[in-house]
Amino acid sequence: MMDRYTAGAFILVALAIVAVVDGRNDFIKLPSEARGGATEGNGGADDDSVGTKWAVLLAGSSGYWNYRHQADVCHAYQILKKGGLKDENIIVFMYDDIANNEENPRPGVIINSPHGEDVYKGVPKDYVGNEVTAHNFFAVLLGNKTALTGGSGKVVDSGPDDRIFIYYTDHGGPGVLGMPTSPYIYADDLIDVLKKKHASGTYKSLVFYLEACEAGSIFEGLLPEGLNIYATTASNAEESSWGTYCPGEYPSPPPEYETCLGDLYSVAWMEDCDVHNLRTETLRQQYQLVKERTANENGYYGSHVMQYGDLKLSVENLFMYVGTNPANDNYTFLDANSLRPSSKAVNQRDADLVHFWDKFRKAPEGSARKIEAQKQLTEAMAHRTHIDNSIKMVGKLLFGFEKGPRVLKAVQPAGQPLVNDWNCLKSLVRTFETHCGSLSQYGMKHMRSIANICNAGMKIEQMAEASAQACTSFPSYSWSSLHRGFSA
Ligand SMILES: *[C@@H]1O[C@H](CO)[C@@H](O)[C@H](O)[C@H]1NC(C)=O
Ligand SMILES: *[C@@H]1O[C@H](CO)[C@@H](O)[C@H](O)[C@H]1NC(C)=O
Repeated sequence: MMDRYTAGAFILVALAIVAVVDGRNDFIKLPSEARGGATEGNGGADDDSVGTKWAVLLAGSSGYWNYRHQADVCHAYQILKKGGLKDENIIVFMYDDIANNEENPRPGVIINSPHGEDVYKGVPKDYVGNEVTAHNFFAVLLGNKTALTGGSGKVVDSGPDDRIFIYYTDHGGPGVLGMPTSPYIYADDLIDVLKKKHASGTYKSLVFYLEACEAGSIFEGLLPEGLNIYATTASNAEESSWGTYCPGEYPSPPPEYETCLGDLYSVAWMEDCDVHNLRTETLRQQYQLVKERTANENGYYGSHVMQYGDLKLSVENLFMYVGTNPANDNYTFLDANSLRPSSKAVNQRDADLVHFWDKFRKAPEGSARKIEAQKQLTEAMAHRTHIDNSIKMVGKLLFGFEKGPRVLKAVQPAGQPLVNDWNCLKSLVRTFETHCGSLSQYGMKHMRSIANICNAGMKIEQMAEASAQACTSFPSYSWSSLHRGFSA
């Protein structure tokens, strides 16, 4: 039985899904890029005969509806492994609740594209379950074994000639990256860790690939030049990033999969790495290719891939960071510059609804599974409505009916960080969540609003009063902070 609200929600979701289904299927061959081609891509001069390659891979989510993030990380591991990195130098963070999830149609197997092979096999389980924390991530980057809580004990024990590759994929929000176990990663803490790592003199250069919504906000105005760090992000500071290979799209996952298999930016860089001799492809060439594929011709979906930090590092070959698969030795970037079609995509923040909807749609009429899927969808929708309305109301209570929405939506000028006082942001997030429940992966989008409340000079007491007024009852469903803990 569906009440009218639920039926309305289903129709909205269905419309949103239909709206992104219409696809192309051919590979697009890009003309080779003559510009820069002559000077870039010769691996000879700057090889890695000294120094070790290190990698840290992190999937920041849990739950079957977030299948794609762990699939991305497993795929990245396979690239590094085939590229010649050693397991002792690859550190993997993933919740590890996908391969053997009861929803997984192929037990023990994870795929990252519709016809992809198993990417789960052999992936080291360094930090799993509740060990996937911001605290352990920072300890690993800093090479500080004594700071670890649980896990394999592997850390980036690097020296001054070494190169480090970091890849993170998950939900995010302005200034924040999700983690399966709270609290989240805040941009200022991450940047501090990178500065400390640099100050310790334990790397030559570092490349950071980051997939998350509003990923640009992690580095914008925050990552200085001179740390020998080159970062690219799936999205700019103000937009969503996108899941791909989702049910109902083209190309879609095999029919038994009711979840997205990958993320648009992530599969763009990885599918490029899969087929090329990475001694002949530079970071910059990959950035441009990935930017084009992820932008999707600036259509309805897609995002702006950005680069930050020491852009001069981008003339280096990918090989210096991720190695290269000897089987691709004859496939240079310029000879085989193939760009997959802009695949259809689903907003990161709607991918959970796609999963619940697809599960609902396929479950037999009257089955327990159908009822469960309906409950999941209804709760997810109720949570969204509750969080959206609460934040709006807090804004109106603090700044007035007219001015409230404007203050919350304001965007800092380009090159400025999201918030002036990060401690204010963290304490106001906690204050809000104390009264209104967890923001959760969807609610992270409101970090900008809370940052703006800080930028306007509001204090904890004012936030507490407004939140208490806006949220008269505390939600008890599964998205509540009763179950999820606090984000800050
Ligand atoms: C490592 O972490 C421990 C515990 O957090 C801390 O006391 C120590 O100062 C850290 N060591 C370094 C070298 O940063
Ligand atoms: C690359 O081409 C050369 C010359 O044709 C051939 O000998 C070699 O086996 C090829 N390598 C790979 C990995 O296919």
